[in-house]
Amino acid sequence: MDWHKRKNTKANNSCYYPRVHYHFISRCLELAENGRGKVSPNPLVGCVIVKGGSVLTEGWHSEFGEEHAELSALRKAGDLARGGTLYTNIEPCCKQGKQPPCTDAIIRAGISTVVFGARDKSNSGSNSLRQNGIEVIGPIAESLCRRFNRGFFSLSENGRPWVTIKKALTKDMKVAHEHVTSQEQDEWSHMNLRAQHDAILVGAGTVVADDPELNVRFGIEEKRDPIRIILDPNSKVPTDSKVLTDSDADRTIVVNEKMPIPDLMELLKEKGISSVLVEGGPKVWESFEKSRIYNEMISIVEDY
Ligand SMILES: NC(=O)c1ccc[n+]([C@@H]2O[C@H](COP(=O)([O-])OP(=O)(O)OC[C@H]3O[C@@H](n4cnc5c(N)ncnc54)[C@H](OP(=O)(O)O)[C@@H]3O)[C@@H](O)[C@H]2O)c1
Ligand SMILES: [Zn+2]
Repeated sequence: MDWHKRKNTKANNSCYYPRVHYHFISRCLELAENGRGKVSPNPLVGCVIVKGGSVLTEGWHSEFGEEHAELSALRKAGDLARGGTLYTNIEPCCKQGKQPPCTDAIIRAGISTVVFGARDKSNSGSNSLRQNGIEVIGPIAESLCRRFNRGFFSLSENGRPWVTIKKALTKDMKVAHEHVTSQEQDEWSHMNLRAQHDAILVGAGTVVADDPELNVRFGIEEKRDPIRIILDPNSKVPTDSKVLTDSDADRTIVVNEKMPIPDLMELLKEKGISSVLVEGGPKVWESFEKSRIYNEMISIVEDY
């Protein structure tokens, strides 16, 4: 039996899939990372075309409004794509947007099998592919692929950006007013929290107290600094604070009015922000907690 026709080993349990699918979908996620910070509110997408058991070409979505991952891999493959298997971490799109639908290019190229990671209910190309005789396998590793694009799925399914609240706490679970985290913890949160959200948000009180830089300083070579959002309804932020004067000052957005969190979410959405890390302080956390608008809360506890 062909590997790509193998059925899941445990019926109806999408956690089980052939290792080879998982391997290439993981590669799609690696490629998709190249678009981090550049493609929102579009999803991060990578694509691999495989033929005769080896990789023919790879592609990714690199810039908002530009070529989709599938198109990029198909363009590089040319006529060789005929009869190949196309892997992508999100179901190929079928609607005309800033770019033509990927389903058209996949059909034209003569791809015989498409394997995708997560469904995209807003732009689901599977039916059109199947109607054109293409075998479609998926979703494969759906929770992994949805989590990877949680900002995109939050915007398209909940109509607002994904919100993560991050707190640094003392050992007795009190809000830390000094730097209590270790270098290792800071590196972890820069790489796994700051670098993975489109924006970081703090209140004026935090800027006044700490004069933070709110950038990604550890672990990643390429620049992936999120947009900085400062809530400052009473104009307390000093004009010489780092967020207003450093070399990334043009990436700082100051909100000068008291805003219900749902309205703030609309504002972020208009700016193409799909995920936001709320770093504090306590007044801002309270605003979010009262509004019940957040997805996750991560507490980093004093390390000694
Ligand atoms: N441990 C940690 O993880 C952590 C993280 C950050 C900061 N901190 C510490 O927390 C302290 C500062 O916290 P804080 O509570 O005083 O200040 P804050 O939360 O940083 O900022 C408060 C400001 O945000 C505004 N704000 C809150 N919700 C808003 C909304 N929905 N729309 C518009 N503006 C809104 C408030 O407006 P109003 O004036 O109208 O209320 C106030 O001006 C510092 O000591 C800092 O070191 C700790
Ligand atoms: Zn597409």
